[in-house]
Amino acid sequence: MKQTLTLKVDPQQPDPKQIQTAADIIRKGGLVAFPTETVYGLGADALNPNAVQALFQAKNRPLDNPPIIHIENTKTIHTLTTQIPPNAEKLMQKFWPGPLTLIFKRSKTIPDITVAGLDTVAVRMPNHPVALALIKQSNCPIAAPSANLAGKPSPTTAQHVHTDLNGKIDAILDSGPTRIGVESTVLDLTTTPATLLRPGGTTLEALKTVLGEVKLHPFVAAEKELAVEKARSPGMKHRHYAPKAPVIVVEGVIQAVMATVKSLICDYWMQGKRVGVLATAETAWAYEADVVKSLGSRRNVDAMAANLFRVLREFDEENVDVIIAESIPAEGLGLAVMNRLRKASGYHIVKVGLP
Ligand code: TXA
Ligand code: MG
Repeated sequence: MKQTLTLKVDPQQPDPKQIQTAADIIRKGGLVAFPTETVYGLGADALNPNAVQALFQAKNRPLDNPPIIHIENTKTIHTLTTQIPPNAEKLMQKFWPGPLTLIFKRSKTIPDITVAGLDTVAVRMPNHPVALALIKQSNCPIAAPSANLAGKPSPTTAQHVHTDLNGKIDAILDSGPTRIGVESTVLDLTTTPATLLRPGGTTLEALKTVLGEVKLHPFVAAEKELAVEKARSPGMKHRHYAPKAPVIVVEGVIQAVMATVKSLICDYWMQGKRVGVLATAETAWAYEADVVKSLGSRRNVDAMAANLFRVLREFDEENVDVIIAESIPAEGLGLAVMNRLRKASGYHIVKVGLP
């Protein structure tokens, strides 16, 4: 067991002394959790193979699932990649710093373990003063997967990080809850047209305004567990975002969804189960279950995205046997929310009321 240091840091004006403490840990090969605008990341020096190995170990992450490399200056991109396609410049200009991860051909400067032996690399520039200050002060690109134990929902607060990783990492920079609450969008620029591998904080609609055409990887809107061979982004084949209790997602027009959620509650009650429902502000009142939680208003998809992982984690404290979740429209950030919910359910999806 390590002693995990927690440093409270102002999200807008981080204290340089605290950033220095954290950067010293990174430079010595240690592990520091830090906030980004999406979720908390667990950082290590991306160019230090031993540090990256420790990163995989702390998270219990399979070695075939590479982390994203975080940079604070677009110049660093040239040391990480061999080829920058023309559309990359436009994307970086419009969306960086921000919740967009770009996949490039990798350079040999990056240790094999950091890219899980692939010939490509995932890079992003986060839009958070603490993250940017930490990368700058560390003077190296920082490899950072989300700072959760593998398989758990990503952490949107330092407390979530503490719950999963206390005693396994050196420090946590605590700047309060993250703003966006779902991870960055992952876009593969090694294909033509570019391929959306993971929907996230940058919407597909926004990407299309720059790129015109974007190919959707079959996993993005996957409704069933797809064959592993199809996993271009290796993370896709591993179970993700799962609370302790099994999740069922009910999809369709809202009236039909509500009727089906109610009848499922009854079915599970008959079996003597303790039932949780993941609803929304407009619908939560309608359910009688053991635990009913709201994601927020259906009119505010940003808030629903920001609440998603926190609410999924809260169910772990309620000892429910099953969680029945309403779907939301898969538009804008809703595409990322539905992708995470479907994964959390292991693709246990009930479709109702569709023509
Ligand atoms: O918002 C985020 O992206 C957060 C914060 C901390 O920046 N990070 C994050 O990292 O979500 P992680 O490691 O949990 O997810 C990275 C995803 C995984 O699905 C991984 O498989 C994929 O990016 N990935 C990494 N390198 C890749 C590559 N070369 N090709 C395709 N997918 C890649
Ligand atoms: Mg993750």
